Amino acid sequence: MIDVHCHLNFKRFADDYDEVIKRAYKAGVTTIINVGTKIDSSQKAVELAQKYDNLFAIVGAHPHHADKHELESDWLEQLEKLAKKPKVVAIGEIGMDYYRYQSNGIVDKKLQMEVFQQQIKLAHKLKLPLQIHNRHAGEDIINILLNHKSYLLNPPGMFHCFAGTFEVLKSALQMGFCIGFDGNITYKGVSPGETVALSELAKRISLDRIVIETDSPYLTPQPHRGSRNEPQYAILTGKFIAQIKDISFQELDRQTTENTKRMFRL
Ligand code: NI
Repeated sequence: MIDVHCHLNFKRFADDYDEVIKRAYKAGVTTIINVGTKIDSSQKAVELAQKYDNLFAIVGAHPHHADKHELESDWLEQLEKLAKKPKVVAIGEIGMDYYRYQSNGIVDKKLQMEVFQQQIKLAHKLKLPLQIHNRHAGEDIINILLNHKSYLLNPPGMFHCFAGTFEVLKSALQMGFCIGFDGNITYKGVSPGETVALSELAKRISLDRIVIETDSPYLTPQPHRGSRNEPQYAILTGKFIAQIKDISFQELDRQTTENTKRMFRL
């Protein structure tokens, strides 16, 4: 099992990331991919990847940090330097986010789009796939990707923590993207602002396009919801999806691992 998206580079793991990583490997997680959301956390992801075997990094500026207050004027140059480091497998998490967080309003959409497009072009230049963040912005993201089709690799990467409509899903699949699911697929009902349950989406996706992630420290799967998430729980999400797809956990593990290796050229 591979956790294709987590944040052991965040403060919440500062004191015990070493134990968390060892616990995950012991539980059967073979590979962990840490993701940056701005320059400092991307730098930290790169450092962690240098320290551990089977641990990789994804670097990028999250749409929520697209604001000029958070990104220095030379952020793109800084990001390019980081993206060229060993064991960086993609540019992410990048995309669009129209959800208003308690701590943060919605960053200007034009600014988000600009930062997203600059990073699509950087990924193209460095021949890296994309790891896309979408919250309530699926149609705009699809349009931007369609407008940048010639910049996409084959395969182009993945949508992280997928949510949205069947139409957005269909477009993402048609462009060749993989689809990532997290622990929130184990929650009952439809999350706020969405119209389709995640398990209904997962049923429509062929097994060769699904990848598993935790988004640790967030989105902890049942029965641990409410506590800090960590990569070892990728296995719980994998088991849940295997049940939805009516296949064995071994089959899901084998195929999602293969998908990740193909997509990130591991
Ligand atoms: Ni994340």
